Amino acid sequence: MASVLFVCLGNICRSPTAEGVFRELVRKAGLQSSISTDSAGTSAWHIEEAPDSRTLQCALNRGYDFSDLRGRQVIKSDFNSFDYILAMDAENLRDLQAICPADYKGHVGLFLDFAKKHNQTEVPDPYHGGSKGFERVLDLIEDASEGLLEHLKSRL
Ligand code: 4NP
Repeated sequence: MASVLFVCLGNICRSPTAEGVFRELVRKAGLQSSISTDSAGTSAWHIEEAPDSRTLQCALNRGYDFSDLRGRQVIKSDFNSFDYILAMDAENLRDLQAICPADYKGHVGLFLDFAKKHNQTEVPDPYHGGSKGFERVLDLIEDASEGLLEHLKSRL
């Protein structure tokens, strides 16, 4: 069993996209009973909210529906619950490291470290920009999701 938590700032754009895309890959691979997924925000701004409507529409255009997801904030006990805690950008990672228990045995790092086709290290925040930003988020996340699944498959 492997558990993965995706983390961004608001938990309405990038991390729900990562959860939605990655869980679809997991489902297609028939690994739902071996890999669990969740997402959260470092901020408390969008607790219980559905993902951003632009995020949902762009994802739907590529066949992903994660309108069931709801925002929540990262909590300290997430470090007891998840083997992988993957940040969308360096600021998210710093915020996670600030609350990470010294004896955490899992992996806290940048999600894009698992990307194969892109060299970029961070998923840029699309919230204040146009539709291109949301497409870019999906491109990066699809790439890293494939890499993450490959990584986990070799460890299951
Ligand atoms: P996310 O994007 O971190 O990818 O969910 C954001 C969503 C909301 C805000 C900022 C970023 N905001 O300022 O409310």
